[in-house]
Amino acid sequence: MPALFEPFKLKDISLRNRIAIPPMCQYSAVDGLINDWHRVHLAGLARGGAGLVIVEATAVSPEGRITPGCTGIWNDEQAQAFVPVVASIKAAGAVPGIQIAHAGRKASANRPWEGDDHISEDDPRGWDTIAPSAIAFGAALPKVPKAMTLDDIARVRQDFVDAAKRALDAGFEWLELHFAHGYLGQSFFSTHSNQRDDAYGGSLENRSRFMLETLAAVRQVWPEHLPLTARFGVIEYDGRDEETLAESIELAKNFKREGLDMLSVSVGFSTPTANIPWAPAFLAPIAHRVRREAQLPVSSAWGIDTPELADNVVREGQLDLVMVGRANLANPHWPYYAAKKLGIARPSWTLPAPYAHWLERYALS
Ligand SMILES: Cc1cc2nc3c(=O)[nH]c(=O)nc-3n(C[C@H](O)[C@H](O)[C@H](O)COP(=O)(O)O)c2cc1C
Repeated sequence: MPALFEPFKLKDISLRNRIAIPPMCQYSAVDGLINDWHRVHLAGLARGGAGLVIVEATAVSPEGRITPGCTGIWNDEQAQAFVPVVASIKAAGAVPGIQIAHAGRKASANRPWEGDDHISEDDPRGWDTIAPSAIAFGAALPKVPKAMTLDDIARVRQDFVDAAKRALDAGFEWLELHFAHGYLGQSFFSTHSNQRDDAYGGSLENRSRFMLETLAAVRQVWPEHLPLTARFGVIEYDGRDEETLAESIELAKNFKREGLDMLSVSVGFSTPTANIPWAPAFLAPIAHRVRREAQLPVSSAWGIDTPELADNVVREGQLDLVMVGRANLANPHWPYYAAKKLGIARPSWTLPAPYAHWLERYALS
């Protein structure tokens, strides 16, 4: 059996293989509420054969959305709209997960295909943003956020807790905290965005505090037997990489101490001047180092899009789970394609019977 198709167990949850659909924003919700697009999109990805399907960055509050089209879970109506999605993901044999998020200073942006920049100040679709310090990201995201007060910090932490409870009520079995990509959690950690002089800025301990407190509070309401993960950018590619990586590994150890079950290793995206060495699977060796030194299961993404590469990073013990994003958008049956390429017995049965039967019986070339 290729390593990519070995089952994986985390807490009480078993995945049929090591392929995960990473969270991918669709920018297609209205007032945070999902619709037919999301239902079809997510059911289709689950049908394709992945072990885990993680719903896109879903905001814990209206101000935490990246764009006006982002999904939300700040009220019960939004959460209940996920119930049929959860059912269809499970019916297709995958585990339903969700990433909960706050976009911080990168919020109030236009959809990627409508500019990917901040909504202009005079446009009523925009909103005020918050962050650790009143420092803009720069480049196409020039809006200056309000520096969060201690009350703001407590409120957002509670928003994460309430979102986690709603996700549980909706039936999700895997929860990911979005602490990556220059959004709120990451921006507390990064000195590019955090220049506070109180208990939430300065030392590594202080810059970790928002994420660790939020994680600990969520762990209180998210059941012990279900996986709780976080996505975090362990490296910025800003010329201070060894220092950032060493700090990130300390953070990962602290995450583990607070009850984190797995880290989704990503890039920080805290500065527009980063020099990222894009290449197939470029982050896998870094994720491997985090896995080894923090003794924490890891997943990762970014250009792991051929079956051979995906199988390799699992077989070599670099990753426990492989996030395959764009390749699954291009071909939502990518796991079936990977099963065929890797020569697993009866690959058609990565798909549900109404497809599998015909593909096995009358195989296409
Ligand atoms: C359309 C799209 C939306 C994305 N939205 C999110 C998101 O909601 N949360 C997140 O953590 N990453 C997001 N990402 C990043 C992906 O999760 C993934 O890391 C990235 O696509 C790299 O993996 P790949 O090379 O397999 O596509 C998004 C990527 C794409 C293409």
